[in-house]
Amino acid sequence: MPKNIAIFASGSGSNAENIIRYFAGSAELKFPVILSNKPDAFIHERAKNLNVPSLTFSKQEFEAGDKILEVLKSYDIYAIVLAGFLLKVPVEIIKAYPHRIINIHPALLPKYGGKGMYGERVHKAVKEQGDTESGITIHYVNENYDEGNVIFQALCEVLPTDTCEDIAAKVHALEYEHFPKVIEQIWG
Ligand code: GAR
Repeated sequence: MPKNIAIFASGSGSNAENIIRYFAGSAELKFPVILSNKPDAFIHERAKNLNVPSLTFSKQEFEAGDKILEVLKSYDIYAIVLAGFLLKVPVEIIKAYPHRIINIHPALLPKYGGKGMYGERVHKAVKEQGDTESGITIHYVNENYDEGNVIFQALCEVLPTDTCEDIAAKVHALEYEHFPKVIEQIWG
């Protein structure tokens, strides 16, 4: 029996697309639905092109949890992947999916984690600190932002001449390479 995985995404959705394409035709893992808190996010365009339903819920609905859990149940969801999802996952959902929710963070946690640290803000902070490396962290999700157990990290070099966009490009490349493989390793 294949395992069904839901993707939660708030933004462009390039990781979501990369994951779905990687597993197209997989007998083990299926990605039957995308959930978002942003009705106008580009993820919905990608979802349309990928033929995957994408549903939008308000912040309040995510925080309440019950409606989300119903949807997850209706798709027989085994696990959840956060791919650029910016809301905190409520305790009800974490309890319903113990060790079955993972997130990707665009830096080397515990550096540059926590509330408000996402996407470009993270790369800006790395640049401002003059760090010589950055990378990605894939971790289990618990009640606190970016504090669950780390599953995987990969590093990239940051040059003094790198712009935030350059850092973002290096980090995205690592995300595209490793995120699907980590999902495959833990649930495939
Ligand atoms: C990714 O770089 C991901 O690591 C980051 O948001 C980006 C989403 O890009 N996530 C966070 O910052 C979570 N704190 P995408 O929508 O193109 O996949």
